[in-house]
Amino acid sequence: MTRLLDPLERPGFITLRNRTVMSAMSRSFAGEGRHATDAMRDYYKRRADGGVGLILTEGTIIHRSGDGWKDAPYIATDAHAESWRKVVDGVHEGGAKIACQLWHMGRISHSDFTGDAPVSSTDRAAEGVNRQNDKPYGVPRALDADEMPTIYGYFADAARRAIDVGFDAVELHTGHGYLADQFLDARVNDRTDRYGGSVENRCRFVLELVEAVLAAVPADKVIARISPSRTMGGLYEWPDIDAMLAYLLPELRRLGLVALDVSGAGSVYADTSGPAVRKIRPLWKGVLIGGASLSIEEAEAEVESGLLDAVTWGRAFIANPDLARKIAAREAFVPFDNAMRDTLA
Ligand SMILES: Cc1cc2nc3c(=O)[nH]c(=O)nc-3n(C[C@H](O)[C@H](O)[C@H](O)COP(=O)(O)O)c2cc1C
Repeated sequence: MTRLLDPLERPGFITLRNRTVMSAMSRSFAGEGRHATDAMRDYYKRRADGGVGLILTEGTIIHRSGDGWKDAPYIATDAHAESWRKVVDGVHEGGAKIACQLWHMGRISHSDFTGDAPVSSTDRAAEGVNRQNDKPYGVPRALDADEMPTIYGYFADAARRAIDVGFDAVELHTGHGYLADQFLDARVNDRTDRYGGSVENRCRFVLELVEAVLAAVPADKVIARISPSRTMGGLYEWPDIDAMLAYLLPELRRLGLVALDVSGAGSVYADTSGPAVRKIRPLWKGVLIGGASLSIEEAEAEVESGLLDAVTWGRAFIANPDLARKIAAREAFVPFDNAMRDTLA
């Protein structure tokens, strides 16, 4: 039986010393020019020293058009990538692997960040206020079909830069209502061209994006994060989740994608990504990563039953840099407290 602290050794995917994963968490501590800092290195290294198998970095902006987050780091230039090298080296010294989460926010942004109208699948603005500048989300400009390769190029270039400075992998952020999800989601995507309408058309952007990234970096170094079911201001699910998964997952495999990270954003696993994982597992024989605030016993059950290959924790890793060691010792986790967001401890 496979256990949570067993190594993950799957052909075609990077090897992890155990199946604990720190999920991507924006921390807004990037330095001058949105470069990675020494404090960020120390923060990630502490988690590596604490025994985690894989660290997924905070969302990292691949191009200014995809920015919408105060003080989020970038990987839009070689200089940005170089600033991450010390983080990668620190994590490797601690014996963990690290993947850079590649982020384009699409319409969940504002021209204060992008300099121009945000881009999206649609020209309808997202509802609500961008908490990063306390202004309503900007009115986006729907991308023309002939602009898609440029966006794929931002992802592919960022992926290449990440691997060049030593990241073990990249995670494509194709969930949580950001740009790629704005194509997947029938409630947002109102296009009438070949990127909208049918399930196949709404999946096209993500599939072409994955194809472009897989042409740029080896397939064992690519993870995609999806969130077909989540709570973000109410329970939310792709309206046609079964049809979407039945098409999207085999197509991703056909392209050569090996690893999928299923997220419910900040929600309760049992309500969102847990049920999604149960739909996905029969359709997905690749590496499957998921979680959210699971207890040690719940995480063990997901791995031992073969539902998940590795388990993510987010907030628990902010509160417990040595989470993996605590799991091994079966020690109680320090509870997360919102005040912990204020420092990069
Ligand atoms: C402070 C914070 C920042 C987050 N930033 C990101 C992010 O940049 N990218 C992402 O995919 N998810 C992000 N998330 C979601 C987490 O990766 C994770 O899915 C969520 O917190 C649920 O897991 P947990 O209950 O174990 O914290 C963030 C969550 C928190 C709490």
